[in-house]
Amino acid sequence: MALRDRIERARGSGVAKPEVVERDGAGMLRSRLVEEVDLAELLQLNPTQRRARLERIVHRMLREDGPVLGDEQRRALVRRVVDEALGLGVLEPLLGDESVTEIMVNGPDDVWIERAGRLERVDSAFAGEEQLYQTIDRIVSTVNRRVDESSPMVDARLPGGERVNVIIPPLSLKGPIITIRRFPKPYTIDQLTEVGTLDRDLAALLEACVRGRLSMVISGGTGAGKTTLLNALSGFIPGRERIITVEDSAELQLQQPHVISLEARPANVEGRGEVRIRDLVRNSLRMRPDRIIVGEVRGPETLDMLQAMNTGHDGSLVTVHANSAEDAVVRLETLASMSDVMIPFEAVRQQIRGAVHVIVQLERGPDGRRRIVEVAGLASPRRGAFKLQTIARFQSEPIGPEREVSGRFEHYPLPDALRRALMFAGEHLPAAFEGKREDAPEREAEGQETLPAAAVAAATRSRAERDSEGS
Ligand SMILES: Nc1ncnc2c1ncn2[C@@H]1O[C@H](COP(=O)(O)OP(=O)(O)OP(=O)(O)O)[C@@H](O)[C@H]1O
Ligand SMILES: [Mg+2]
Repeated sequence: MALRDRIERARGSGVAKPEVVERDGAGMLRSRLVEEVDLAELLQLNPTQRRARLERIVHRMLREDGPVLGDEQRRALVRRVVDEALGLGVLEPLLGDESVTEIMVNGPDDVWIERAGRLERVDSAFAGEEQLYQTIDRIVSTVNRRVDESSPMVDARLPGGERVNVIIPPLSLKGPIITIRRFPKPYTIDQLTEVGTLDRDLAALLEACVRGRLSMVISGGTGAGKTTLLNALSGFIPGRERIITVEDSAELQLQQPHVISLEARPANVEGRGEVRIRDLVRNSLRMRPDRIIVGEVRGPETLDMLQAMNTGHDGSLVTVHANSAEDAVVRLETLASMSDVMIPFEAVRQQIRGAVHVIVQLERGPDGRRRIVEVAGLASPRRGAFKLQTIARFQSEPIGPEREVSGRFEHYPLPDALRRALMFAGEHLPAAFEGKREDAPEREAEGQETLPAAAVAAATRSRAERDSEGS
């Protein structure tokens, strides 16, 4: 059956149809459920009532002529049938398990989870491809999107806030793939300190930096814990400030009384109505923000963000995807030059120098734990290469066969400019960062000698040329 037909068929009814008959009778129960249940009535109920109603019906069917089962088995079977009829089937118990941070479905019978930073394969499997497509359709229809040959990749969100990515054949060779990221559990800085992401001195320094309105970039690879740290750091923003957050998909959970959260929107099924991060950043400037927090910069909004940070919106916090502090600077440079505003390259650098005070680099270690591996100040010589001044770093011991990581955080005296900024803001400098920076590590972050070729080409074309290309 064509993919589209499969999806259409699944969409046709609110209750899943059985694909195979399993030995324990789940398939039979599902098909009887479809026959017995009054869909119109079911739609009147709220989700909790709907589940309760279906559970009652399945219990009754089992009592009347089901296999003989113990109480526990019976409950599990009822839950499974109802989960599959209403929810996300085999994914439901995984979603219900707090210790699971990520769920990866690689086709109907290959399901993996991440727990405590490590991957495990689980026994769960979908009854077949059709059931998997049905689940996918349920997920994406809640965000008014569609998955089919013409849009084979979709980002969506579950009602509980979990982020979902779906990609289907022919782009994925292995079958339909679902990747679910649990809504990040909010950690406080104290909790992060306890699990070893940073130490007490660093926590005190970062607190002073946030309260003292230094602008910070949190950098790291995928899943390194950037959003989690950003959320924790935002807790230090004084309650009297008006905070505006801008995100692709809202994950931050700020506790202050005066927070405005803005969320970007992808185009709808007809390809209309897209609102980009950049539009929201620009709009936020007209909303009298005391602080702007951008969940992640990954495109032309970087330039708007840098400009905002340069024009009085200091104390801003943002994350960027990069593998080292140097990389973060280069990435900001590249992203800012992706903007359609024609801005000379040296001016982009000038913007970064003026805007960014501190870079916090996160890493997920071989032991699955997330750690701050470096905090660096970005010094601003007038021209030439950027200068990164290490303020703290994690010094790791050689990694043993168990892949356990041990090591310690090293601290260095704070660069003068940052020390002055904190002093003027009336913030206390933790003793670990006192002293003269004579031997403290410093290095040049080359940045790019030149822009990437494509960006140069784009930048040197006249506006008329670009306009005519667009038509
Ligand atoms: N310091 C930490 N200690 C333990 N677990 C963490 C830590 N930071 C993040 N996590 C967990 O790791 C997962 C990914 O975290 P998070 O979303 O913050 O990463 P990210 O770097 O923002 O990812 P992405 O690149 O996808 O935006 C979440 O499940 C989160 O709860
Ligand atoms: Mg993130």
